[in-house]
Order: sequence, then C-alpha cells, then structure tokens
Amino acid sequence: MSNATITVLPGDGVGPEVTEQALKVLRAVEERYGHTFAIYRGLVGLDAIAAEGAAISDADFERCAHSDAVLFGAVGSLPAGTGHRGGPRPEQALFRLRKEFDLFANLRPVRPAESMYGASPLRPEYLKGTDMIFVRELSAGLYYGHLESVPGKPSEIRRGRQEREAVDTLLYTEREIERVVRAAFEIAADRRRTVTSVDKANVLSSSLLWREVVERVAADFPTIVHEHMLVDVCAMRLIRTPSDFDVVVTENLFGDILTDEASMLTGSLGMLPSASLGVRRTENGVFGLYEPVHGSAPDIAGQDQANPVAAVLSAALLLRHSLRLNREASAVETAVDDVLREGYRTADIREVGCKVVGTQEMGRRILDKLERP
Ligand code: IPM
Ligand code: MN
Repeated sequence: MSNATITVLPGDGVGPEVTEQALKVLRAVEERYGHTFAIYRGLVGLDAIAAEGAAISDADFERCAHSDAVLFGAVGSLPAGTGHRGGPRPEQALFRLRKEFDLFANLRPVRPAESMYGASPLRPEYLKGTDMIFVRELSAGLYYGHLESVPGKPSEIRRGRQEREAVDTLLYTEREIERVVRAAFEIAADRRRTVTSVDKANVLSSSLLWREVVERVAADFPTIVHEHMLVDVCAMRLIRTPSDFDVVVTENLFGDILTDEASMLTGSLGMLPSASLGVRRTENGVFGLYEPVHGSAPDIAGQDQANPVAAVLSAALLLRHSLRLNREASAVETAVDDVLREGYRTADIREVGCKVVGTQEMGRRILDKLERP
C-alpha cells in the first residue's frame, strides 16, 4: 500500500484530454490495488500565462516540489504575433521544472507492439524485435542559456562586426555527463546489457569529453557491452536496423531529434511516453516528471481525436519510477497492449481493418482491460 502525492499539470491543446485518461487509469490503480493518491491539479502553459502572468506560478511550482511525481500534459505555443520579447512563453514552464528539479535523465522507451507494426511507415520485417530506451540528457547542453544568460554560456542574437550573428553554447561538465551515462548503464543492467552512446566526436569537443566519461563509467559495469556511434550514423541505423538498439544515451538536442525519429517506429508520436528523473529521492522512489513526447496538437484539440496512449504509458512510468509500483505499471502497459491487439486505434494510428475510436473510448477500453490484483 502506497501513499503518494501527484501533481497534475494538463496544460494546453490536447494536454487536458489525454491527461484525463491517464488520470482515470491512476485512479483505477489506486482503487483496485489499495493505494492512496492525493492528486492536485495546477495550471501550466497558456492558461497559466493568462491567469498568473507566468508559464507556471510559484504556488503550482511549490506543489510540484512537495509531490512524489508530476503528470504533465503538453504546453502550446503563443499564437503568432502575440506575446512580447522577454514576455512569458508556455515552454518556460517545462524548462523551469526540468532545471530547478535537476531532471537530468529523460527516459523515452520505444517498443512498437507487434499488433501495431502495420501503423509504422517501416515494413514489419524491419521492426521485428525492436525494443529500445533512449536516455536523453535533459539539464544541460545547447538548450540552456536562453533561460537566463549564464556567464560564459551565451545564447543570443547579437551585432557582429559586419552583420548580425547568433550564438548558442554546447557546454557539458564532466559531472553532467557522468550522471546521465551512469543512469543509462544502470538501466541496461536490467535489460539486454548493451549501451549505445551517441555523439559527434569527429567534430565536437563536448563529444570527445563525453566519450572519455563513457569509457570511465563503463569500467564500473564490466558485464555491459557499450559502443560509440556518431549521431548521423545513428539516425540512419534507427531506420535500417532498429532492433539492434537496447539503451541509447545522448546529449540533449541529439536526444530530442532522435526520439522524434524513433517514434515513427511505433507509427505515431502519440504512442511515446517519457519520464524525466532527477536527483531528489522521496519516501516512495525518485521524484520525476512524466509526459507524453507529443506536443499540444492545437489542430485537433477538443475534438476527442488525440491518442491518449502516450499519456497513459507515462502514468505507467510514474507508477514504476516514482512510486516503485512495478506490478501496477506492468498491468497498465499490458492493458494498452491488449486494446491495441483487439484492433482499437485512434486516428493517428489507424490501419485498414481496425476500429477507429476517440480519445475517451480508447481510455475507457484501457481501463476495462486493467487487470485486478
Ligand atoms: C520535447 C520537446 C521540448 C524539447 C520543447 C517543447 C522545448 O520537443 O520534450 O522533446 O525540445 O525538449
Ligand atoms: Mn522534442
């Protein structure tokens, strides 16, 4: 029996619809498995900017800080031509949460269900056996600098000698590399024991240091096989031989790009969950933020069309990592697999001969399949 506090930040676009389905699943787990979850809702993104003048208010941020986990929907973009330079932008909420909670390891599992092979643009024989997890560094690299300008780490458009120029800084400390690489090796120990570290060591100094640190960490894990792969080669191999990958660890921007690419192995960005884990331990596990990899998809928002699977699977990751409820997490994942195997699909993963359902029906069917203990 677990007593946990979860803060839910549904956010913009399809965020509220998909999060609603994930919440129902959490409520069902609570009831059927005899746990107690205190669930708070907060504002994030466009609504938070409208109501509080910031992408996430200090009060909601504090709520997150006192929770075991955060379930996050999506944040949108400001409509073109609105907002002002230096004014609040929805994605600042994500950056604040990632940075202040030091959420350095972003886990993105990619495991296309066999019943879903037809939904991928790749031929099924290429997908067979594909089961990988990306560990994307999330707290440093090219992403940070535009938040507040960090000395020695510029990110700006500026006046050059002749014309305007722009700069971003790809900076990693050894400690920042080491902690995420170590996390990847620890994850590999419970899987097929293979780590692929992705970099651009033929060009970037940060990648040279990255490789050095990987070698050092690898020495502590003698039973795990590791390899280094250049990011361009990795982009190609993800399509050519996806089943070769087990655990892939890489820096922030490479991980952002490669995981969107890898999502197509499952047929849709709407299938991919994520967990962002930090350093804080709670009584129940590791504090983390859980969110679908997809964005707010404003074009289909409010139409009961969005795929809730990524959000539901994110809730499963929450159960596993922040609450150490492995059995419950697996039960949720199995329920999703069962519904897909029966041929139910949201529009993004429709196939010939399948039954297309809306967001709510998909959620309801997953709930129906959720095994009782
Ligand atoms: C993601 C998103 C974000 C990122 C955006 C919204 C800043 O694409 O979580 O992958 O690039 O980290
Ligand atoms: Mn992304």
